[in-house]
Amino acid sequence: MHVSHLSLADFRSYARAEVPLDPGVTAFVGPNGQGKTNLVEAIGYLATLGSHRVSSDAPLVRMGADRAVVRAAVVQGERRQLVELELNPGRANRARINRSSQVRPRDVLGIVRTVLFAPEDLALVKGDPGERRKFLDELVTARSPRMAGVRSDYERVLKQRNTLLKSAAMARRHGGRSMDLSTLDVWDQHLARAGAELLAQRLDLIATLLPLADKAYEQLAPGGGPLGLAYKCSAGESVDSGAARTREALYEVLLAALGEVRKQEIERGVTLVGPHRDDVLLRLGELPAKGYASHGESWSYALALRLASYELLRSEGGEPVLILDDVFAELDARRRERLAELVAPGEQVLVTAAVDDDVPGVLVGARFGVSGGEVTRL
Ligand SMILES: Nc1ncnc2c1ncn2[C@@H]1O[C@H](COP(=O)(O)OP(=O)(O)OP(=O)(O)O)[C@@H](O)[C@H]1O
Ligand SMILES: [Mg+2]
Repeated sequence: MHVSHLSLADFRSYARAEVPLDPGVTAFVGPNGQGKTNLVEAIGYLATLGSHRVSSDAPLVRMGADRAVVRAAVVQGERRQLVELELNPGRANRARINRSSQVRPRDVLGIVRTVLFAPEDLALVKGDPGERRKFLDELVTARSPRMAGVRSDYERVLKQRNTLLKSAAMARRHGGRSMDLSTLDVWDQHLARAGAELLAQRLDLIATLLPLADKAYEQLAPGGGPLGLAYKCSAGESVDSGAARTREALYEVLLAALGEVRKQEIERGVTLVGPHRDDVLLRLGELPAKGYASHGESWSYALALRLASYELLRSEGGEPVLILDDVFAELDARRRERLAELVAPGEQVLVTAAVDDDVPGVLVGARFGVSGGEVTRL
C-alpha cells in the first residue's frame, strides 16, 4: 500500500499542510526543527494510533489549538480509502473512513500500515522493558488489527484488578475487614484470558521475527551476529522454553502463576504477573545487547528489528510504508549504502534528512523541502 495524499490541520507545528505523495522514494529535507519528523509522525499515528516520540496525544496538537486532524488517502492495489483521525486530548478521539459516519479509532487500524525507524529506536536495545513490549505489541497489532481490542481489554482488566488489590492492601494495613477473595478469582480469569491471547501472539511473533532480524543484521553488519531473542515471561521459565504455546496452555500457566503470587500481590497492591511485566532479552553473539553492545551495534540491532518487521508485514499482508526518520546520518558509509540498497525497491519509502547529502544516491525519487512550516516539492 502507499499514501497518495497527507493532510494535516493543527498537528504539531502545522496549522495546515497538504502533501501529495507518490509511490517509490520521497525525501523530506530541511534544517533542524522545521517539521520533517512531524510529517512522518502523523503517518505513523494513523498506523498505530500513537506517536513514536511521545506517549500522550497532547504534544501532537498545535500549541494554542484544541484538536488536531490527520487525514490520508491510501491506495492498496485497486482500492482507495480515505482515513481521518481527530485528536482531542483529554477527550475521546474520533475517526472516519471514506468520510462516512463515525467509526471507532481502532477501526482504522490496518488501513495505513507502516514500519517506522527513528533515532528513538535506540531505546529498543538500551531502554526499559516497556520499550520492547511496545515494539512487540505494535507489531502484533499490525499483523492482526483485532489484537487492538485484546490489548485494550487487558489494560482495562489490569487497571481494575490493581484497584482491587490496592484496596485489599489498604484494608490489610489498616486492619480492616479482609476482602472477599472470590472477586479476585474472577479478575484472575479475565486477566489470564486476555493475557494468554496477547502472550501467544507475542511468542509467535518472536519466533517468526528472529530469522528475519538475524538476516537483516547480517546484511547490515556481516559477521556481527548472530542475534538472539528470548522472551522473559513473568509467569515463569516454562513459557520461555517454548514448550507451552497454545492459548489454552498459556491461560493455565498465567492462572497458576497468579495463584502463586497472590499473597505478595495483596501485600503490595499491584499485579505482579502478566504480559505487562514481561521483557525480551536481546542477544548479540554470546552477550546481551543491553549493557554490552556498542553504540553502532545497538543502532544496527534496532534497525535490524525494524527491517525484520518490514519483511514480516510485507510477506503477510502487502507492503507497508517504510519510514526512515533521520537514520542515514547515524550510519557509516558502508552501512548507509547497504541499507539504501535494501529499502530502495519498497512500494513507498519516506525518508527525512537535514541535508541532501545524507540521502544515499540510490534512493532516487521525489524531494520536498521543509522549512518555516512550508512543505514544497523541489
Ligand atoms: N504541539 C506543537 N505545537 C507547535 N509547535 C510544535 C508542536 N510540537 C512540536 N512543535 C515544533 O515542531 C518543531 C519540530 O519539528 P520536527 O521534529 O518535525 O523537526 P525536524 O525537521 O524533524 O528536525 P530535526 O532535523 O532536528 O529532526 C519544533 O520546532 C517544535 O517546537
Ligand atoms: Mg526530525
